[in-house]
Amino acid sequence: MNYKINTYGCQMNVHESEKIASILRSLGYAEFNENIHENYDVIIFNTCCIRDTAEQKIFSHIGELKIQKKNNPNLIIGIVGCMSQQEGKIDIMRAKYPHIDIILGTSNIDLLAESIVNLRENKKHTYIIDESERPEIVEGKDYYRTSGTNAWVNIMYGCDNFCTYCIVPYVRGRERSRSMPDIINEVKELINCGYKEITLLGQNVNSYGSDNPDGPDFSTLLEELAKLSGNHRIRFMTSHPKDLNTKVIEMISKYDTLCKSIHLPIQSGSNNVLEAMNRRYTREYYLNVIKEIRSIIPDCGITTDIMVGFPGETEQDFEDTLDIVREVQFNSAFTYIYSVRKGTVAASMPQIPYAVKSERIQRLIKIQNSLTKESSKDCEGKTFRVLVEGIKSIGKVSGRTDAGRLVTFEGGEDLIGEFRNVLITKTQSAALFGTIKED
Ligand code: 5AD
Ligand code: SF4
Repeated sequence: MNYKINTYGCQMNVHESEKIASILRSLGYAEFNENIHENYDVIIFNTCCIRDTAEQKIFSHIGELKIQKKNNPNLIIGIVGCMSQQEGKIDIMRAKYPHIDIILGTSNIDLLAESIVNLRENKKHTYIIDESERPEIVEGKDYYRTSGTNAWVNIMYGCDNFCTYCIVPYVRGRERSRSMPDIINEVKELINCGYKEITLLGQNVNSYGSDNPDGPDFSTLLEELAKLSGNHRIRFMTSHPKDLNTKVIEMISKYDTLCKSIHLPIQSGSNNVLEAMNRRYTREYYLNVIKEIRSIIPDCGITTDIMVGFPGETEQDFEDTLDIVREVQFNSAFTYIYSVRKGTVAASMPQIPYAVKSERIQRLIKIQNSLTKESSKDCEGKTFRVLVEGIKSIGKVSGRTDAGRLVTFEGGEDLIGEFRNVLITKTQSAALFGTIKED
């Protein structure tokens, strides 16, 4: 019996799919491999609804399975994650795609095992969405980790920010932080298992602990993790500019184990748009945060998310975004076209035409690409400590610097999971190439 998991969206989902894999394996399923197996017996869609494109893609895949299910009525089809949690979506899915057997919400994945058993033994479907704002955190979960040298660790769930474009707070509930001892124990175990990079995950990691004012804050958690013995490094994402504080920046600079890398979504460079987005910072504030990061950690890698075409965004607003992008010079940026999300505040604002959004993103991407190229070029002649992640091609391996840049250099399988100092000799867009520098 084989399983297939189709994962969409962010790292949080990628990590949750590791939990889904673990549940399926505990039921006796093996991972589907199209080179060996003819077909799969269970397919789980771990869904995303952050943009319409993600949703359309998922629906079209689910639609395609109708025929497969007809030919093999024992095929189990499950939908979990953000999309199932959207208001009204469960009814649409059940009506339009009756071949779906199981639908579970973002905090109900633990019910997958019993849902499958119930289906196999009693032919009973399960559709469960926990709609409470603070679903309980279930500890003691197993993960079938597939991320090589890196392991993901959730430190918190949900989001309280309600940016007006964003569906996340509606589908993932309010912020809930895991307890520090639970996180430390998990990280210790991962280091003992040989993982070399731990990435802490949360929608807004800087507000870790704010749901427990007497408990530790994010900088304290970082320090405790940084002090653990072992040859490893710690990353985290995502940071909200309004919550990233001096204490955290200083903590990152204090410990070699903490990666000099911050993902700091700006979204827009226009104060009008930032206000309409409910981001609760101004462009001036954002620039000050960047200044502070660079004064405390001069070599810090800074990446961002930028959105174009938010309702009401004028040509001048967009120019403000381009200006700030040129000024900050991010290592790299994820760029998005604003997508209407039903139920969010921005969905009822006057929208701007798609042609305008599309033209703007092209301009933005062009500028960012040339800045990314320059920022890579600055690395030539410098040496970075790289964690080797895998084989790139015959005789070549690739890995990442502390700041998150991808580097390719000569080496074999024996280097995977090892740190090496690499001298950068050539760059191409965001890609760096180099040679190992012996100590
Ligand atoms: N449309 C487009 N992009 C969005 N994001 C969040 N919501 C939307 C939306 N409705 C982007 C933001 C966020 C990233 C994870 O996804 O830039 O930082
Ligand atoms: Fe969405 Fe804003 Fe929360 Fe990020 S901080 S998940 S963009 S609401």
